[in-house]
Amino acid sequence: MDTRVKEACEYITSNINNKPKIALILGSGLGFLADKVNNARSIAYKDIPNFPYSTAPGHEGKLVFGELFGREVVVLNGRFHIYEGWNPSDIKLVIHTLKMIGVERILITNAAGAINTSYSPGDIILVKDIINLMFRNPLRGPNDNDMGPRFPDMLGAFDREWMEKLKNAEGLREGVYLAVTGPTYETPAEIRAFRKLGADLVGMSTVPELIVCAHVGIKALVLSCATNMAAGVLDQPLSHEEVVEVANMVKGRFTEIVQKALEV
Ligand code: 6GU
Repeated sequence: MDTRVKEACEYITSNINNKPKIALILGSGLGFLADKVNNARSIAYKDIPNFPYSTAPGHEGKLVFGELFGREVVVLNGRFHIYEGWNPSDIKLVIHTLKMIGVERILITNAAGAINTSYSPGDIILVKDIINLMFRNPLRGPNDNDMGPRFPDMLGAFDREWMEKLKNAEGLREGVYLAVTGPTYETPAEIRAFRKLGADLVGMSTVPELIVCAHVGIKALVLSCATNMAAGVLDQPLSHEEVVEVANMVKGRFTEIVQKALEV
């Protein structure tokens, strides 16, 4: 066991008595759910030994422990993207810490561009598979045999049973999420290429987390909010404002789906 993970875990468990089995990672514009946590107890990332944290004002990030829709959870409010300069190993430390405090399942959300032209902005899609074009892998380096196998099976990260229940309850469509590092949005030529590769959605997150989950045996359910059509689909430029605006518009539906995911 990595002593850095141990230190992070010891700090958290000495400050918080909650033992949530479910974690939530909230994507761009979807952080509002952290405010719905009842009996919330927070720990700032910057106070946790060895945890990565942003030094930008207002973006420090925190773990929020409490109950969401009647379930004990820990919400990761503030995520670490490769485009910010974080290393895949920083993301690994965060997921390992969750594993060590007893997390068994994780609900990962993100905002993504729609490559599939039958999607519309605001659609919420259940991610059934991924394509990793980040050309990074958090498991690179010596394998920690105590945490998981050298060569993990990637589909093992997905909790098919949980996904089926939510899909049936909410009538969700499934799609393939392709990850790039960003921070540039794609070119129209890249999007045409990605469509040929079989991608329905494109984004800049989720895959590093999912890889570590596959390794340590945390079961994941991934929801993408298709906030906008990807480059070249419509004759209009892409903007982060649009992403945040649409994520804001679907708050109600998104909340309903997350509530169901925690109930099924
Ligand atoms: Cl179009 N591309 C990427 N990479 N990420 C996004 C996006 C597009 N829209 C929201 N997030």
